[in-house]
Amino acid sequence: MRIDKFLANKAIGSRKEVHQLIKQGLVSVNGVICQRKDMSIDLEKDRITLDGQVINNQQTYYIKLNKPAGYVTALEDSLHPTVMDLLPPAYKKMGLKPVGRLDKDTEGLLLLTTDGQWGHRVIHGRKDCQKKYYFTYEGQLASDAKEQLAKGLVLRDGTQCKPAKIEWIARAKALGGKGYIWIEEGKYHQVKRMIAALGGHVTYLKRISIDEIGLNGIEELGQYKELTEDEYRLFSL
Ligand code: URA
Repeated sequence: MRIDKFLANKAIGSRKEVHQLIKQGLVSVNGVICQRKDMSIDLEKDRITLDGQVINNQQTYYIKLNKPAGYVTALEDSLHPTVMDLLPPAYKKMGLKPVGRLDKDTEGLLLLTTDGQWGHRVIHGRKDCQKKYYFTYEGQLASDAKEQLAKGLVLRDGTQCKPAKIEWIARAKALGGKGYIWIEEGKYHQVKRMIAALGGHVTYLKRISIDEIGLNGIEELGQYKELTEDEYRLFSL
């Protein structure tokens, strides 16, 4: 593969930007500064670095994104911007897709990958995979909310949920409050429906983590980065 294509595919920058990086002498192949933008590289053997940092030459991508509100979790949408609009177009061309979904008005951690099997394992693979959300709400939650959640809440439409955990940061009688909730599933509008079943109304929702994968390194809304090896391994075979 050509080195400029490889770097553009890795979403390092557009082809033009990649050519600039090569011109500036920032790209090396096996320790030798790359002189030609059309240099041919062997993805199996060659070690590519950008400004001294090794670029992994995997052809599959595992990304975490701090999703802002206002973006729909879809590849395309005729009305609203999508999470793909927050990422370099090269990713879409490589087949990157969201893993599960967050509502348009929900913020926080969204995983995306080109590896469908890995994505499937994140959603369905592990029974104990906890997703942590921060939420604010209006209204008054049932006094036994903790117990109801712990034994498995029944939603207003009769849907049975798996056991979940809640912790309050603040709880004002009748006025609402804020806290964290941990769930193992990903049913449609799940957190909002759980809080509704407990007597409240979610006014803000943000996913903080999926298992051990958190928002570290992507603290700002709209930021994204490739998963570390350790994060990837949490859901590898
Ligand atoms: N639960 C919800 O209600 N919405 C989300 O976006 C995620 C979990």
